Amino acid sequence: MSYDDAIKALSKDALKLVKNNQIVGLGSGRAATALVKSLSSYVSKKKINIKCIPTSAQIKMVAEKGKLHLIEADQINKIDIVFDGADQIDKQKNLIKGGGGALLRENILISAAKKVVIMADSSKFVTNFNRTVPVEVHPLARNTASKDITKINGKPKIRILDRGYPLITENGNIILDCDFGTIKNPKLLREKIIGIAGVMEVGIFTRKPDIIYKAKSNGKFDIIK
Ligand code: A5P
Repeated sequence: MSYDDAIKALSKDALKLVKNNQIVGLGSGRAATALVKSLSSYVSKKKINIKCIPTSAQIKMVAEKGKLHLIEADQINKIDIVFDGADQIDKQKNLIKGGGGALLRENILISAAKKVVIMADSSKFVTNFNRTVPVEVHPLARNTASKDITKINGKPKIRILDRGYPLITENGNIILDCDFGTIKNPKLLREKIIGIAGVMEVGIFTRKPDIIYKAKSNGKFDIIK
């Protein structure tokens, strides 16, 4: 039994939250992929009608394969439920997101959702954030935003792909992974970073999830409400 077994098991359990005629937001990454696969079988078996909004091309392709009905975020003004993963979850249930670069679309969906469900393995749970914060920045602000992040005691590093090219997000931006050490006040830090010219999104999300699924290494999971 492993984390992957736990993620599979919890993604099936989470389906009980999905109701007919809902608009469902699909996060990105490993946990969201497991959820989308389970959701696809559930929808075809139960013959329910739902519309899904993907947060990235990665999850869109998984959802297309599962024959889910897809729409875009700009077609609606509310979302019933969003399922997503996280890179870290602190004691106050703030989230660090953006490890896969999909933070801008993820935050649009999470902010518009009536219910947010986060699924993550136990290694992601910390008292205070202690990993880098992904910051999506317009390419023209690469140097100026980096300088401003340094001024607030962050160490920015542009996210680079294997062969040396900078990662360009689906929105045409770059990602600066910023080291702030241990983060005691994530809300304040988010406000400071989002105020920097050229910053499009910050991977600190302070909208608290309604339900958190915690996957354990023994293949089981806890539900935190
Ligand atoms: C995508 O940009 C991220 O926010 C992901 O949701 C996050 O990295 C969690 O991914 P995993 O479920 O793959 O760990």
